Amino acid sequence: MRIILCGFGVVGQSLVKLFESRSDELYSKYGLKPRVVGVFDSKGSTIDPSGLNFKKLVDTKKKFGTVKNYASIKNSMSGVEMLKNVEADVLIETTASNYKDAEPGMTHITTAMKRGMHVISVNKGPLALAFPSLLELATYNQVMLKFSGTVGGGTPILDYAKNSLSGERITSFAGILNGTTNYILTNMGTGISYEDALKDAKDKGYVEADESLDLDGLDAAAKLVILANWILGIKVTLPDINCTGIRKVTLDDIKKAEKNNCSIKLIASSDKELVVGPKEIPNDDPLCVNGTLNAIAFTSEHSGTQTIIGKGAGGTETASSILRDLLDIRQEIARD
Ligand SMILES: NC(=O)c1ccc[n+]([C@@H]2O[C@H](COP(=O)([O-])OP(=O)(O)OC[C@H]3O[C@@H](n4cnc5c(N)ncnc54)[C@H](OP(=O)(O)O)[C@@H]3O)[C@@H](O)[C@H]2O)c1
Repeated sequence: MRIILCGFGVVGQSLVKLFESRSDELYSKYGLKPRVVGVFDSKGSTIDPSGLNFKKLVDTKKKFGTVKNYASIKNSMSGVEMLKNVEADVLIETTASNYKDAEPGMTHITTAMKRGMHVISVNKGPLALAFPSLLELATYNQVMLKFSGTVGGGTPILDYAKNSLSGERITSFAGILNGTTNYILTNMGTGISYEDALKDAKDKGYVEADESLDLDGLDAAAKLVILANWILGIKVTLPDINCTGIRKVTLDDIKKAEKNNCSIKLIASSDKELVVGPKEIPNDDPLCVNGTLNAIAFTSEHSGTQTIIGKGAGGTETASSILRDLLDIRQEIARD
């Protein structure tokens, strides 16, 4: 399968390492031979229709800070030119999530779909701002759009709700969908101030470069948009979410919650409306997970409430979700 990889940061590099380490098994067990024919980062690109060498890509990025030094004759094609001119079956979009105009991911995804490529995106920006129209574009161009890694990283939250609960009607859900804010609130539960807890999260590399994405609830809201569209079939985008972050949560609020045997968590929920905001959760509720963990409770008509807990992020975990999507695409193509 010929792949163009957009973005070569934590997730992109984890993915090619996964391809490298599991290549024999992927072929023998699933008949999948991932051939990365083009990669680009913010500084340049590299192309080889016969397939780029995974180890050399990672080594080049490490040494030069960009993939453009992969070959001695440098390729000068921009990412969009690559998507318009290089033959590939699948685009894997791993550039940074942006909730203002969703670029550059939006242009990558729409250009690829218009050329008939299937798309796997772990970038939440385009889905948060245009989920309904992107699905329509995929249907119109008869391509698949997959995005397992956008919610829960490697924890298969979307697959569980869509496939394991198929035939059920999910009536509502509530979840902790952002590990960074959960880490900060968990630390505040031990008496540490918001400022110190935030600094600790930053020192550990948990906070996005634009901290507002975590602290103001935008990352959780983007995931809520994806869940609402995909699981509940509600056509919404980011402006439809009633969103409050954790900046105003005080140690007093946390102490008050403790008196009720509760903890304050940043909850994304779909009850009467789609809301992200701090909420008291009973300490014995399975949803009340600590540290950077994510958790989501789905309530369905006949099966009651079920909670899934797992790591919500991480390069390798998210890369494994891309592999899952790739195998799905491979199987669906084979079925057709
Ligand atoms: N990391 C996780 O655990 C995780 C989990 C779930 C979802 N995600 C999502 O996955 C995506 C990637 O995450 P990450 O952690 O890999 O981020 P990252 O390390 O910051 O990598 C982002 C990559 O995008 C490239 N990029 C940025 N602007 C670009 C442009 N205009 N043209 C081409 N490339 C561009 C960067 O290029 P340079 O290398 O040149 O800077 C970098 O290679 C994000 O959307 C994130 O929200 C991440």
